Parts: sequence; C-alpha cells; structure tokens
Amino acid sequence: MSYRILQQAAETRRSIYALNKQLPLSAAETAQIVEHAVKHTPSSFNSQSTRVVVLFGTEHEKLWQFAENTLRAIVPADQFEPTAQKLAMFKAAAGTVLFFEDQNIIKGLQEQFPAYAENFPVWAEHADAMHQYAVWTTLSAAGIGANLQHYNPLIDQDVAREWDIPDSWTLRAQLVFGGVQAPAAEKAYEPLEGRFKVFGS
Ligand SMILES: Cc1cc2nc3c(=O)[nH]c(=O)nc-3n(C[C@H](O)[C@H](O)[C@H](O)COP(=O)(O)O)c2cc1C
Repeated sequence: MSYRILQQAAETRRSIYALNKQLPLSAAETAQIVEHAVKHTPSSFNSQSTRVVVLFGTEHEKLWQFAENTLRAIVPADQFEPTAQKLAMFKAAAGTVLFFEDQNIIKGLQEQFPAYAENFPVWAEHADAMHQYAVWTTLSAAGIGANLQHYNPLIDQDVAREWDIPDSWTLRAQLVFGGVQAPAAEKAYEPLEGRFKVFGS
C-alpha cells in the first residue's frame, strides 16, 4: 500500500458546509465506512470506549430540528437568523454521525489502573477525536463531504431520548455529511517553520 494514498486522503479532507442529500455511495456503504473506523481506530489500553451512531434521512433531520428547538428557546428571536441558516445547511445534508464516549469503560479503567486515573478521560477524548478524523477522512476519500459540529451538551437529552442512548454515553461531536454541493473555501496555512522540528537523521 502506498502511504501517498493516505496523504492524498488527508489533503482532500476539508470542512464542507454546502452539502446535499445525494450521496455517491449507498447508505449501507456509507455506514460501513463508519463501522470500519470504529473497529480499526486505536484507543488507550485498547479500551474501545468510543460509541458511534449514524443518522440518515429523516432521523438526521430530526437531530437538527432538536438543535433548532433548543436554540430557539435561548437565542433572542431577532438574532436567530444566522443560526437558523446554519442549522438549515446541516438539515439539507444526508446524515450525521454522532460520537460518544462510554463513561462506564473510562470509570472501569480508572478503578483498574488508579495510577493513570487522571489520564483516562483525556485519552478517551484523544481516541474519540481519532475516530472522528478516521470517519471524516474516509468519507472524504469516498467523495462525501462533511463538517464537524459540537451542539453537545445542548442536544444531549433529546438525543438520548430519541435514539435510546445509554446514560453512560456522553456525546462529544457531530459529523454532518452529504453530497458536495459546493467545495470548501480557500484554506490559509500557517508556515510550517516552528511548528515542525526534526533532530537527528
Ligand atoms: C477539534 C475540532 C473542533 C472543531 N469544531 C468545529 C465546530 O464546532 N464547528 C465547525 O463548523 N467546525 C469545527 N471544526 C472545523 C475547523 O474549523 C476546521 O477543521 C478548520 O478550520 C480547518 O479547515 P478544514 O477542516 O477545511 O481543513 C473543528 C475542527 C476540529 C479539529
């Protein structure tokens, strides 16, 4: 396998906000990309504490309706338009991947390995982010656009009730995905100088 394939996928992954419901893959193939990442992404002590839920179609639209209902209750009506437009963009996409961490697994590790107790929640966040990146990059390589959102904890209760999420799962991120309606905006890159050092050869 050429490592360049992975590098090209990393270069192709961007935050794409203009998404539609026309996926280049079937829902089953898209879900398989997520399932593959859940199986193959590493985690501290091989704890596998990340939990993932994929919402397609009307289930996905329900999620963003929950976000809208919650935000309408707290954002003044005369300031709601930008939020409404953003949420409408998410709803126009094909689906959302929800990423959780199972706190029961993290607590179990803390009890089993007290010397690392403070580290396990941090490592769980790292592992969750790795799952997010694996899914995002692979979807992108498959021609599916996506953007990463954080409407937790505002939507946590609605999500838990609607999709029967166990109490121990905490929602960490939402990856909205769909067909690419318009490409990502130009991206500015900070100079690599000072961000990257090599010693020895
Ligand atoms: C940890 C993390 C959190 C992010 N949170 C959000 C978010 O809440 N909303 C959003 O629109 N984009 C979010 N992003 C996307 C970044 O803004 C985006 O990745 C960055 O501007 C670089 O653009 P690119 O994704 O096109 O490479 C997040 C990205 C990361 C890595």
